[in-house]
Amino acid sequence: MTEQMNITPATGKLGILTPGLGAVSSTFIAGVIAARKGLTAPIGSLTQMAHIRLGGREENRNPLIREFVPLAELDDLVFGGWDPISPNALEAARTCGVLEEKDLAPLSAELEGIVPMDAVFDQRWVKRLDGVRVKNIASKWEQAEALIADIEHFRIENNCDRLVMVWCGSTEAYQEASEVHDTVAAFEAGLHANDENISPSQIYVYAALMSDVPFANGAPNLSTDLPCMIELSATRGVPIVGKDFKTGQTWMKTLLAPGIKARMLGLRGWYSTNILGNRDGEVLDDPENFKTKEMSKLGVLDAILQPESYPDLYGNIDHVVRINYYPPRGDNKEGWDNIDIFGWLGYPMQIKVDFLCRDSILAAPIVLDLALFMDLAHRAGQSGVQEWLSFYLKAPQSTTDAGPEHDLFIQQTKLKNTLREWMGEQPVTHSEAG
Ligand SMILES: NC(=O)c1ccc[n+]([C@@H]2O[C@H](COP(=O)([O-])OP(=O)(O)OC[C@H]3O[C@@H](n4cnc5c(N)ncnc54)[C@H](O)[C@@H]3O)[C@@H](O)[C@H]2O)c1
Repeated sequence: MTEQMNITPATGKLGILTPGLGAVSSTFIAGVIAARKGLTAPIGSLTQMAHIRLGGREENRNPLIREFVPLAELDDLVFGGWDPISPNALEAARTCGVLEEKDLAPLSAELEGIVPMDAVFDQRWVKRLDGVRVKNIASKWEQAEALIADIEHFRIENNCDRLVMVWCGSTEAYQEASEVHDTVAAFEAGLHANDENISPSQIYVYAALMSDVPFANGAPNLSTDLPCMIELSATRGVPIVGKDFKTGQTWMKTLLAPGIKARMLGLRGWYSTNILGNRDGEVLDDPENFKTKEMSKLGVLDAILQPESYPDLYGNIDHVVRINYYPPRGDNKEGWDNIDIFGWLGYPMQIKVDFLCRDSILAAPIVLDLALFMDLAHRAGQSGVQEWLSFYLKAPQSTTDAGPEHDLFIQQTKLKNTLREWMGEQPVTHSEAG
């Protein structure tokens, strides 16, 4: 037995703040309220539905994760956030059209009561959106101060013991990190100087960390993965994690690629294309915003297949990712993958995947799990990048030079073993002895 970590109990209310009250966050909130009312099970959520094996298989110890680790209860969650367009969670849910009226009806009063605060928003980063509920403050330093005041106000108003923030806002235009992102001091000077390289999402991260609120980034833009934010999360003792929810096509990719590699089959090419018609699709129709997403999606294959170790199998891969905005499809995305593999004597084969998924239905439980696990990590005294939550992310942050782990099954093992270790249980190795 390893020693159990000292974890503060999850007493009182946990506020979940989402910058961005669009398709993902309104679907997430609606699902939690529906589950609370007993109208549905929280399908897709590990924190609510998964069991975890403890000890050897013969010991038959297999509790639910939520009974094994001290997580906040669904009944203790309070929701809030910021959005430059949506007037409340009900209108946001209606606009995005993910859930049907019959499912929204029993939740409508509660959803209507969730009114986002005015956003820190700048159209330069999301050209396709016209913000109306926006803070009328020009100075980036004062925008950060206003967000910090919002957070404090929300905390008091809703009698929250603790808060977490999950970015569910639009994907911002592509950028590389610059000098202003090097250190906290440089970033703060940049806020004062209105540095053009500081995007709104970065101001939210800064405000969250200065308020001791853990931050998870569900979009692919730069925010928690900047050196200044990593430094700030360490000095404030607050967990961060990013980036980009692993939902449709990349989830499939990180399921299939490890399988191809496990059998030592070769890969010649992987062509992925998507059609989607929601607001996210509209934002991603702009080349600058698409580039941010593309970079996040392209990384996974190399990390899983390790072409440097397997040049004969994976040394020459054409990997292409496309996203096409197609309004009739709404949130019900269609993702096609054409995978060219080869086997014995080099003979070619093809795998075709046509995934008719629902983006926000897949993303919503991820928001819940990230929020609950980030709160757990904070109570367990953790700070900095929470690599054990890579399971949920397309482009996970890594704390080592080895880079992130993308294989879904290794990520799942890492997540569960981290929980086991924190609770004083042995990690499960799946070896002949274990
Ligand atoms: N749905 C998925 O499967 C999935 C997967 C991975 C990543 N994501 C990312 O999650 C994010 C949310 O996706 P969605 O489908 O809900 O998109 P959405 O367009 O429905 O919602 C995003 C919301 O963010 C708001 N917003 C934009 N800038 C903001 C700012 N500065 N401050 C506060 N709010 C702001 C918009 O007004 C909009 O209401 C996107 O960045 C998307 O790329 C989604």
